[in-house]
Formats: sequence, C-alpha cells, structure tokens
Amino acid sequence: MVDTSHDWIFSRTGIVERRIAAEGVVTSDLAFEASRRAIESAGIIPDEIDLIVVATTTPDMQFPSTAAILQAKLGIKNGCAAFDVQAVCTGFIYALSTADQYLRSGKYRHALVVGADLLSRVIDWTDRGTCVLFGDGAGAVVLKAGDEPGILSSHLHCDGSYSQILCAPGRLSDGKISGSPFVHMNGNAVFKIAVTVLDEVAREAIEANGLTKSDIDWLVPHQANIRIIEATAKKLGMGMDRVVVTVDKHGNTSAAAIPLALDSAAREGRFRKGETILMEGVGGGVTWGALLLRW
Ligand code: UT7
Repeated sequence: MVDTSHDWIFSRTGIVERRIAAEGVVTSDLAFEASRRAIESAGIIPDEIDLIVVATTTPDMQFPSTAAILQAKLGIKNGCAAFDVQAVCTGFIYALSTADQYLRSGKYRHALVVGADLLSRVIDWTDRGTCVLFGDGAGAVVLKAGDEPGILSSHLHCDGSYSQILCAPGRLSDGKISGSPFVHMNGNAVFKIAVTVLDEVAREAIEANGLTKSDIDWLVPHQANIRIIEATAKKLGMGMDRVVVTVDKHGNTSAAAIPLALDSAAREGRFRKGETILMEGVGGGVTWGALLLRW
C-alpha cells in the first residue's frame, strides 16, 4: 500500500506484527473478550462489578459510551455506573486512576477497567507515517477494594497546547464528517515530548512514594516505540530484562497497549508478590501519566 519495508519499521519502532480486527468487529467486542477473562481471573461474577470504566479513542458509536454497551454484553443487570475515558494512548492510566479514586473513597468495591481501541479504523492506509504503527486490541483488569495496596499512587498530566501534533480532527456535523477522520501525527514532535515527559512523570511517581529508582522492579510502559521504551528504561537505570515489551507483537494499540503488556507479563508469571511496578503512558492531548503498583 505504501513505500515501506520491514527493516524500516523494525529499526525505527521495534514492531514486527500487528493485529487488525475483522470487518464488523467493534471496540466493545474486544473489550468484552478482555473483560470476560479479567472477571474470570478475579474470581468474581459480573454482577459484583459496581463500576465500569473503558478507556477508548475509537468508541463503537458517538453515544452511548462503549462502557454502557460492554455492560450489556457482559450481562450485568445491577445498574452499575459505566462510562468512557478519552485520553488516547494514556487512556488506561487515566481510567485506572479514576477507578482507584472511587475505590479509595469507599464508594465502590469492584471496578472493571478496560483499555480498548481499534485504531485501524481511523488510519489513513496511504500515510506511511502512521499506517505502519497502529494495531487493534483490548486489555482489562478488575480492581478490588482492600486494605493493602494495590495501587500506590497515580499521576496524570495534559498539555492541550500540543493537541494538533497527534489528533483525528474529524467530527460529526449535520449528518456528515467535518474535517479529516484519520489520525494525523507529527512523529518527531511526539517522540521528543514522550521521552521527556515519561522521565519526568516516572520521577514524580517514585518521589511521591519516598522511593528511589532502584526500588522499581518492573516497568510496564506504553507500547508505541521500542526506542522510547529503551530511552525511558535507561533514564531509570533499568535493564531491559525488567521492562515488559510487547510492541513487537501488537504495534501501538493505544489504550490497550499497557493492559496487554501487563496481562502478558502476569500470565507468564514474571511478577513476584511484593514487587513494585511502574506503568506509564503518553499520547494525544498531549496526555501523559504514571501509576505505581505493588504486586
Ligand atoms: O502512542 C502515542 C504516541 N506516539 C508515539 O509515541 C510515536 C512517536 N514517534 C515515533 O515513534 C517516531 O517518530 C516514528 C516511528 C513515527 C518515526 O520515526 P522517526 O525516526 O522519527 O522517523 P522520521 O519521521 O524522522 O522519518 C525519517 C524518514 C523520513 O524520510 P526523509 O525525510 O528522511 O527522507 C520519512 O519520510 O523515514 C521516512 N518514513 C518512512 N520510510 C519508510 C516515514 N515513515 C516511513 C515508513 N517507511 N513507514
């Protein structure tokens, strides 16, 4: 479709494979599969969930929210709260942080948090600057209220003055799409900001908990580009053997990237009880954030 090569894509990004959803599949379908497995792993029944937060940039429809549609697909009949969070590739960190606040306040006991995106639907397949990067996916976790952390802290940021460097500007207006419906990205600009803010927010999260870099056992970063991941790990003084990397298998799956990476490492049994995990992401907005977790 475009003038590119495996060597260019691999050397610039680390991406080898990507998944593209079949025609007719919508975001809530992938969210449903991920949620079903998360609920099963958590050992609860769907009706025990009292909050659903879905991070997505590619919702099934303008409204209702993908979270509402997901609730119905899961057969949840208890009338629990359900809403979407839109923070693009940082969406999962924003969603997890939001759910954490509700659990901390005592309002809810079980939250289903999902990152799900079908970026393939908003890609211009003639733009080689973006069409080689993104893939489709979904990941989910169940948060349970408890006395022991869990989530130690979360740190969310946004600088909206950069909204034009990564955006899909189209909007529905008078029955038509007004403006381009495709992802537009100034890759160089995003790259530079990403490397800077991911380092800053990692420090912020570590300092907020009275920890030092050497206390971080695992880094679970947003999976956009192996060069960004390696730069972040280097600044943290972490070897790549302590960094969860799945960008080679999925490409950039936006809000799904962090939970997909978390899931793959968890199911491989890489995390040990008591270990400290730093998750962090950056994306359109520009948004960025980090969350420290005790396994
Ligand atoms: O998840 C949200 C956050 N998003 C990101 O974190 C993405 C951040 N940015 C990046 O990952 C990188 O900037 C890219 C992977 C998008 C691009 O890598 P780069 O090293 O910054 O390349 P570049 O944009 O500077 O392009 C270098 C060259 C250009 O050619 P000239 O002008 O040097 O002749 C591009 O036209 O590579 C060319 N190019 C390609 N060549 C082959 C751009 N895309 C392609 C392609 N195949 N797909």
